[in-house]
Amino acid sequence: MKILMVCLGNICRSPLAHGVMEQLVKERGLDWQVDSAGTGNWHIGQGPDRRSTREALKHGIDISNQICRQFRIRDFDDFDLIVVMDRSNRTDVLNLARNEQDKAKVIMLLGDKEVPDPYHDDTQFAPVFNLVEQGCKDLLAKYIGS
Ligand code: 4NP
Repeated sequence: MKILMVCLGNICRSPLAHGVMEQLVKERGLDWQVDSAGTGNWHIGQGPDRRSTREALKHGIDISNQICRQFRIRDFDDFDLIVVMDRSNRTDVLNLARNEQDKAKVIMLLGDKEVPDPYHDDTQFAPVFNLVEQGCKDLLAKYIGS
């Protein structure tokens, strides 16, 4: 399974989802590839927001080596699943879809619920981590049944 985590900036939420999912698949010995990208282009080439890096480290996950990149059309070919954090991300990604097959790959991490954007609120990084972790666990359970 090749899975791409997507948010707006690729510095707060999707790097967390990327790191958490990588950790979970590693623990389970799964041969999954995980990556992340942003729909926006403001932070290309930068590392994750320090608040996300710090929050991940509290949970034993090092995301400091990740490099921000922008979502690209080719991602529809390169990944089996494109997992967005909120409805706005979903709209942005679906607008780039070339066909129904591309569209079918796009899901929200929490189903009908959104992972809120924590960028402007320092207090949101801890709850966002928890939401992302639960979403990743639920997603894994859905695909591998544990
Ligand atoms: P993210 O948060 O989508 O979770 O990475 C954001 C990061 C940066 C910006 C917006 C959201 N920004 O506007 O620069």
